[in-house]
Amino acid sequence: MESTTETLLIIDYGSQYTQLIARRARELGVFSLIVPFTMPFEEVEQLQPRGIILSGGPNSVYEKDAPGLDKRLLSLGVPILGICYGLQLITQALEGAVEASATREYGLAAIKLGGGSQLLDKKIDASAIWMSHGDHVKVPPTGFVVTALSGEIICGIENADKHIFGIQFHPEVTHTKHGSRILKTYLRKICHFSLDWQPTSIIDHQIKQIRQRAGKDKVICALSGGVDSTIAATLVDRALGKQQTCIFVDNGLLRENEYEEVLAAYKETGLNVKPVRAARHFLSKLAGVTDPEQKRKIIGHEFITIFEKEARKLPGVKFLVQGTLYPDVIESVSVKGPSAVIKSHHNVGGLPEKMHLKLIEPLRDVFKDEVRAIGRELGLPRQIVERQAFPGPGLAIRIVGDITEERLHLLKKADAIVREEIEALPEIRRDLYQYFAVLLPIKSVGVMGDGRTYEQVICIKAFHSLDVMTADWARLPYNLLARMSSRIVSEVRGINRVVYEITTKPPATIEWE
Ligand code: XMP
Repeated sequence: MESTTETLLIIDYGSQYTQLIARRARELGVFSLIVPFTMPFEEVEQLQPRGIILSGGPNSVYEKDAPGLDKRLLSLGVPILGICYGLQLITQALEGAVEASATREYGLAAIKLGGGSQLLDKKIDASAIWMSHGDHVKVPPTGFVVTALSGEIICGIENADKHIFGIQFHPEVTHTKHGSRILKTYLRKICHFSLDWQPTSIIDHQIKQIRQRAGKDKVICALSGGVDSTIAATLVDRALGKQQTCIFVDNGLLRENEYEEVLAAYKETGLNVKPVRAARHFLSKLAGVTDPEQKRKIIGHEFITIFEKEARKLPGVKFLVQGTLYPDVIESVSVKGPSAVIKSHHNVGGLPEKMHLKLIEPLRDVFKDEVRAIGRELGLPRQIVERQAFPGPGLAIRIVGDITEERLHLLKKADAIVREEIEALPEIRRDLYQYFAVLLPIKSVGVMGDGRTYEQVICIKAFHSLDVMTADWARLPYNLLARMSSRIVSEVRGINRVVYEITTKPPATIEWE
């Protein structure tokens, strides 16, 4: 972002909640960036943050090689808020004392205010806070007052003159009743953020950046039909127009009529799209393949081959547009280190290096739900902006076992019925993360009319999830399930049995393969 954007910097010490801090700040209207604790002081200074939060983390400040804090940060004059490990780092750096608790404290506690705090106001007294720590502050540094306790444990300290604040609990977690209020006080009253940032604020900035970076060069983009690549391409289109060519490959593995519908939507949006019909090619390569990873590899490999061939037809291309999102960026720079894998579909299988292309990633600073807001602002059709998450290898990993034209046809028809029935009930659809059909690799006996049948089985799947790391199956109304089941067996010839999945994730994954 440009340096005039008011920025909150979150220094990551490896807490599982670091991303949540960034998201809460953004929800409150503050642009936030997560940086690793290894970022040199000079770089932090250059970013000109208006506030700095030191995150929690799994270490103890006394451990050998524990992630440290550059003391110069504390005299920058920028307000600092240390959360959990961040509080302990501040305490240690300014010569207070931290000690190990007898037992690790994890869960809800009640806060007791000492008064006189700029950060914690009266309303917060006696409310629930979320604790997750081993060590705690024993003696605050000189010049600091204790602002809050939980039992005997110090859980708030501050030195208002120096603009340094520390809390032991996690305001970013919803279990902390007044967590948002505390963060808002820090951001507004202490850091003086205007709280007017919105995800859509990146649009104009990105358009300028893309123009600057690409100049008159040609750029290429691989469209998948999904939300991220479409919105990335649309931003580039606003910046560069016909300098960009988008390649949209029909691998035959999208849902019923989806390729045509999405292509029509792209054309309507004005994107410069080159469609490539390759459904038969993909199916022939997948013939006889039943191993899930093998399916993924074949699809990825064929996609790259086709994309490269098309790209070679366009001389002078210098840039590749990718819909990389912020969680992927964070993963690659976080405390866990660069070894954390960026999802392979975001790298388009190493294409940039192979083809000597530079990257344009207009959504690098954006979280998944913010992408949809940007899409809406850009005027993209609902059909694209609200499209449910769909895996890169498409229906290939929802046909358990052999992929044939006939089995693909059965799955597409059944899946279309599932979607149609659920989408007719917006109040149910709204709460679902994904809903779809899976074709199982077995046949079972049935009776239809007067005759015996021996046909295939469809499994319906519908679930709730926040971040897709965990998921719970949806308690769909029985009559909706009944309608889907009877429609599938009567309208899709070749299916005589329908089941509903009732496993959570974990232990099951979302996709069957
Ligand atoms: P799993 O099956 O891992 O799925 O529980 C989690 C989420 O990721 C999607 N998914 C994929 N997306 N390429 C993708 O682009 C893949 O190979 C892939 N496998 C799973 C899945 O639909 C769910 O949203």
